Amino acid sequence: LRLFSGSANLQLSQEVARYLGMDLGPMIRKRFADGELYVQIQESIRGCDVYLIQPSCQPVNDHLMELLIMIDACRRASARQVTAVIPYYGYARADRKTAGRESITAKLVANLITEAGANRVLAMDLHSAQIQGYFDIPFDHVYGSPVLLDYLASKNLPDLVVVSPDVGGVARARAFANKLNDAPLAIIDKRRQAHNIAEVLNVIGDVKGKTAVLVDDMIDTGGTIAEGARLLREEGASRVYACATHAVFSPPAIERLSSGLFEEVIVTNTIPIPDSKRFPQLVVLSVA
Ligand code: R5P
Repeated sequence: LRLFSGSANLQLSQEVARYLGMDLGPMIRKRFADGELYVQIQESIRGCDVYLIQPSCQPVNDHLMELLIMIDACRRASARQVTAVIPYYGYARADRKTAGRESITAKLVANLITEAGANRVLAMDLHSAQIQGYFDIPFDHVYGSPVLLDYLASKNLPDLVVVSPDVGGVARARAFANKLNDAPLAIIDKRRQAHNIAEVLNVIGDVKGKTAVLVDDMIDTGGTIAEGARLLREEGASRVYACATHAVFSPPAIERLSSGLFEEVIVTNTIPIPDSKRFPQLVVLSVA
């Protein structure tokens, strides 16, 4: 078994390697003057079971391309099996056509990964679980929820209500609620007018005087979760926590998340969070 890391989240890869009691394999990565990427595996991997860790976080195109080049390099080096370990699967939100003449990028990325030569994929908290079916190779879909739930349970929050920030996230929020002693569930009825602009309408369920935990797969610009928190406060929630696996944190997420709406914003380290994006209410848990 051999483990290699792309450049997207070296710290997480190192934690995984430590957990497994092994070293990350040696690999050269560089960029040519014209911006093209170069990868070379620095040891024989002939006949090996190779795991490549690379989330497709920002800059997403570079990290995705680096993963494809790593897969291709391993396949051409006669690895027995190549598993792409993708803690955050980017381009996942376009998982169907919602208007004419659009691309389904989640499927396009699946095609690219398969065509590059991956034999197996392991990804965490896909934006929609059916993306597994876009692959014709084995797919392990794992979840950040055990780590998030352990943390939430340890806080013993009183009068808990688990809130889905949109109708699409109800199954996820219900699973959380079940694991938190069958806490009640509330749903925010949201309509989105344009990409990256969230419009919140109303809350279905009782949140008055309760500790609300908003659960989502990702926080990108923070619009969805911040609008949700604002509405929950208006509806009388006494405290609001945000909980998500993937901290994409595109601007202006930090301003929105640190504005005092939240007691805590709880995320995992599938995507690296630089010091410049950390704020007092942020809690980062490891999924290594
Ligand atoms: C939407 O379907 C997703 O589950 C997230 O709610 C959304 O992508 C978060 O984006 P933002 O933080 O930009 O509102």
